[in-house]
Amino acid sequence: MLALGVVILLSYLVGSIPSSIWVGKVVKGVDIRDHGSGNAGATNTFRLLGWQPGTAVLLIDFFKGFASSYWISQLAYYIASGPVALFSFWDVDPFLRIVCGVIAVVGHMFPLYANFDGGKGMATAAGMLCGIEPVSVAITAGVFLIVMVTSRYVSLASLVAAFIYPLMLVALRYVFGWPIDGSILIFGAIVGIGIIIKHRGNIKRLLNGTENKVGSFKPAVG
Ligand code: G3P
Repeated sequence: MLALGVVILLSYLVGSIPSSIWVGKVVKGVDIRDHGSGNAGATNTFRLLGWQPGTAVLLIDFFKGFASSYWISQLAYYIASGPVALFSFWDVDPFLRIVCGVIAVVGHMFPLYANFDGGKGMATAAGMLCGIEPVSVAITAGVFLIVMVTSRYVSLASLVAAFIYPLMLVALRYVFGWPIDGSILIFGAIVGIGIIIKHRGNIKRLLNGTENKVGSFKPAVG
């Protein structure tokens, strides 16, 4: 129980690292939440600060999720019974991995270090799912890229990816017989729903035609 509490707390603290807010402050001295879409995420960092800070934020946010589901989850075994399972991917209970990953996404959305006002969770969710079931994430990333390139809306690509990911897991398990743990199905769907809810402002803008397209935004920061 102590081990579970420790890894949950650690995952939340790692997920809480508000990379876009800190990068915005370091690079331009601004709070990224006051500009562009107002979202504390990689997309808004690309939009406002350019590709280098954007890439840094994307990688950090991705890594927060990956580190939580892949590494921090293993610490529970270490704490409970010594260094038996450290760095051995398949030995860790999928439920423990997904719990740590989901907590990191919650930390990203509601960060302790930024007044609980964080991002929408896409990059962190992709990272945490990569630490659990990378093939389905790669397929979803392909769909995300196709929608983003053809529509030029990152938010639409995120919404489609969040919607199809759980459905694809169901298909992989029940149609193709992949050994996907039930907890991944359930929490994959919960994370997808959370991401869609976090995009409600984007949904309104998409419906009324005011959503930012890739390459069309003129940054006020700079
Ligand atoms: O992952 C976030 C993206 O889908 C939307 O970002 O800044 O356009 O709200 P943004």
